[in-house]
Amino acid sequence: MCVPERVLTNDDLAAILETSDEWIKARTGIKERRIADEGETAAVLGVRAARRALEITDILPHQVDLIVVATSTPENIFPSTASMIQHWLGASKAGAFDLSAACSGFVYGLDMAAQAIKSGSIDTAIVIGTETMSRVMNWQDRSTCILFGDGAGAVVLQAGERKAGVLSTVLRSDGSGFDLLGIPALGSPEIRSKDGLHERRLHKMYMSGGEVFKFATRVIKSSVLESLHKSHVKLSDVKLIVPHQANKRIIQAAARSLNMDEDRFVTNLERYGNTSAASIPIALVEALEEGRVNDGDYIVLIGFGGGLTWASSVIRWVIPHPEGRVVNRYREQRRRAGYALVSLRTRWKRWLKALQRLNPFARFRPEDFDDPDEFDDYYDVS
Ligand code: COA
Repeated sequence: MCVPERVLTNDDLAAILETSDEWIKARTGIKERRIADEGETAAVLGVRAARRALEITDILPHQVDLIVVATSTPENIFPSTASMIQHWLGASKAGAFDLSAACSGFVYGLDMAAQAIKSGSIDTAIVIGTETMSRVMNWQDRSTCILFGDGAGAVVLQAGERKAGVLSTVLRSDGSGFDLLGIPALGSPEIRSKDGLHERRLHKMYMSGGEVFKFATRVIKSSVLESLHKSHVKLSDVKLIVPHQANKRIIQAAARSLNMDEDRFVTNLERYGNTSAASIPIALVEALEEGRVNDGDYIVLIGFGGGLTWASSVIRWVIPHPEGRVVNRYREQRRRAGYALVSLRTRWKRWLKALQRLNPFARFRPEDFDDPDEFDDYYDVS
């Protein structure tokens, strides 16, 4: 996982908006969130999370067959954020694509990758949820901007002998609720309301919080139970539920409706807010790091959000190195050397371009065109 260093507390928000720490904590459970710096885009946060996942699983980038990135805040319509990450990883044999299913995107992506592995078409995949929600907030809309934050989480899936991994998934959508939350993009009509409150601005998020709240509390229970039924796993056998981190009250309502103790639900929204597609993998990675998941445990992921979409997965977790981390030093060096090579190649291209500029006989002057190498100066992939 990777979260930006910059912290925005509720008190910081109260300094620029008519809100308070008490209101935000009481209504959402959120205390602070992380905000990306200028050079930290979805691809930058995503590649950092993916490198960490490869390190922990001790897999080399060229072993990866597929990179799926769930994001609502990509840098471009195309090329995909996944392709940028593929390049920076040096995953030279991987296909890569972005997936749009809002806050359910990570669970959707996990299912796509797991199915591709089960079918035998690929062996190893990385699924990443990564977001820079701070860039699409309307910072005047106090009922929405207080909820979201930035971050990324990644997992590696690999074919194996044991009956483990993604056992079942339930994917759902109800497009009749498409106007309850969203981020208008190029093809969207501009919509202005008479009261000026519900304007749909290009690349800015809008949300009907109350409606979304009701939708979320309605779908969680049935979705979790359906995915458990599909995998023949009993609720009582589930070690942890990793819900999308939208609102503490939504998670509490889910625990009540499933008649489960709240401590079996992973929550970290007090520190990161709602990081959309990144929230489930970040919460999952933190649960793993805290030792809350053991080899062979059943866990359930449940996501919900724009679309409307919702999705839940039952997973039997297999720890790659249950007896402790056994990372091969040679492979670790190879990964690092690969990343250094990608960065060297980028610099080399930049130097070549600079040399070309000095050539008075050059037929085409590169500065007459958009210089794509300048993009590489912008992104901070350290
Ligand atoms: N600070 C202070 N007051 C605020 C506020 C803020 N940040 N945001 C809204 N208010 C006010 C409202 O203006 C309203 O005032 P009024 O009664 O004078 O009109 C009052 O608080 C209550 O607003 P309401 O919208 O009913 O609050 P709520 O309890 O429903 O909480 C949300 C609002 C957004 C926190 C809540 O609806 C929510 O979390 N919804 C789900 C959103 C979500 O998770 N989306 C992502 C899903 S992927």
